[in-house]
Amino acid sequence: MCGILCYLGKRPALPILLEGLRKLEYRGYDSSGVAIMEGGEVFCQKAVGKIQALEANLAGVTWQGSGGIAHTRWATHGRPSVENAHPQKDCREKIFIIHNGIIENHQSLKKQLLSLGHRFCSDTDTEVLAHLIEEHYQGDLEEAVKAALRLVEGAYGIGVICVDHPEEIVVARKGSPLILGIGEEEVFAASDVSALVSHTKEVIYLQDNDVAVLHASGYNISNLNYDSILRRTQQVEWDVEAAEKQGFPHFMLKEIYEQPEAVENAMRGRLIEQEGISKLGGLDGVHDEFLGMERLMIVSMGTSYYAALLGRYIIETCTDIPVEVDLASEFRYRKLNIREGTAVLAISQSGETADTLAAVQEAQRKGALVLGMVNVVGSSIARETDAGVYNHAGPEIGVASTKAFLSQLTILYLITLALARHQRMSLSEGQAFIAELKLIPDKIRRILDSASQIEAIARRYHGYKSFLYLGRKFNYPIALEGALKLKEISYIHAEGYAAGEMKHGPIALIDENFPSVCLAPRDSAYEKMVSNIQEVKARNGRVIAVGTEGDTDLQEICDEFIEVPATDEILLPLLMVVPLQLLAYYIARENGCEIDQPRNLAKAVTVE
Ligand code: G6P
Repeated sequence: MCGILCYLGKRPALPILLEGLRKLEYRGYDSSGVAIMEGGEVFCQKAVGKIQALEANLAGVTWQGSGGIAHTRWATHGRPSVENAHPQKDCREKIFIIHNGIIENHQSLKKQLLSLGHRFCSDTDTEVLAHLIEEHYQGDLEEAVKAALRLVEGAYGIGVICVDHPEEIVVARKGSPLILGIGEEEVFAASDVSALVSHTKEVIYLQDNDVAVLHASGYNISNLNYDSILRRTQQVEWDVEAAEKQGFPHFMLKEIYEQPEAVENAMRGRLIEQEGISKLGGLDGVHDEFLGMERLMIVSMGTSYYAALLGRYIIETCTDIPVEVDLASEFRYRKLNIREGTAVLAISQSGETADTLAAVQEAQRKGALVLGMVNVVGSSIARETDAGVYNHAGPEIGVASTKAFLSQLTILYLITLALARHQRMSLSEGQAFIAELKLIPDKIRRILDSASQIEAIARRYHGYKSFLYLGRKFNYPIALEGALKLKEISYIHAEGYAAGEMKHGPIALIDENFPSVCLAPRDSAYEKMVSNIQEVKARNGRVIAVGTEGDTDLQEICDEFIEVPATDEILLPLLMVVPLQLLAYYIARENGCEIDQPRNLAKAVTVE
């Protein structure tokens, strides 16, 4: 995700800010920028690409100002470009702002601001905030920022400076992290401790709705109503490397823990509860063709392919649209019968997977409506598809995909809802679907809270050489994904199977040395899963079951039992996969494997 850094003190700000931006590089970004206050002016420089590009643009610059703001941007609204990079500014070039998050009502605010005569030069939601602050500015920056934030819906971590206030930076947070760093006659604000930990270990974690006014000599924190707020100062114990992982030993574990947020970010601004529908802005341009599609083909690879397999089950359950799913690499070998009314959806975290890109091009040649679901804004697949939906999951660094998968599933539910409401799903069914979906992030948090139990299971099982993963219906793709996670990072042989297929081969392998991970929540496939578990047990196989909270019947027949909270059957995969990720992670850790960069694997496979 984007990175924020602000500095105010006695030293020249520019080198401190550039060094801090480099510390934020690991988060992924596509452009960067900096603004420095000096001699009653603000100097701003931005660049697309790496921090070196920004440094090259700054070559020969001698700004000595000791206050400024800096940003690395991971595009959400508007492609990566100099205009869209932050800082963004107002019409008079007095107010400069850096922002993480999404202003959900930016379109309506922009309309009002345009009618008041404001001129925009970027496609960003952030620029709307700059003009909104300008609109309310009457000499008091804090007041103008607060007045603007009162009108804003969405998430933000911001840093704002103004030419008229060279001794002041206003920062605020709601739903996007922001941390103050307190030094000797200097103060920092950053979205991530890693950017400031080399300067000070004394930090304050701002909370939602906090607004802090920074001066070199200190800071004041208050809320939007000017109630002053006291926040505890804490000492950071981490070194710089640990700070990038925010205290987690591996990016993969950090990303597993970011999943409640990834699901929230995928839904943010895309659900209209009253109407029981989802609204995917990226598909607006193809609205009629999308809702009117007669057939859908989904293409993808790896974990994204398993997301697609679930997509087939849920779209076919809720609509009359037949769905085909292909490994993108096999798509070209089929004699494709793409008629009018056929839509092709490419799912890819990176947006750069060569096979998926080739499938997109093939589908386009055949005249299909080609849609994309990608996480990396501006990536090849994002550019080459006719329309699409971004995941907004933030950069995923661990090679084994986790939070991007949850995000992909979430968006597939939103696509399903949009299509289903256009067809046979009623208003009340749509509303109930949304209500249940919104409970998912907290239910994932509950599963994460029980990680130590899964860690203990991993300690008992890490020595086995092979595992079988079994699931049915909605949880069949999850069994495949669970097995993939284990083999990717622990190098243990694992096979995912549809439980019904077990008797047609894999059962021959089962003995006391071949444990099975069985997905048996209380859903419509429960009884059949229980039969499969008994078949495994009858052959001395050990069973690790993932089931519904409180299912003591299941617990009794299994060797290990991992609980997930209950939810609608169709949404269960969002919960069921989380214990499987943790199990793979802890087994790999027990075995001393290189978790974030497993051997032979790449984050994006850019050759066919
Ligand atoms: C590689 C990665 C996987 C990923 C797959 C598809 O194999 O290691 O984690 O699922 O590519 O990548 P994509 O970026 O297209 O989703």
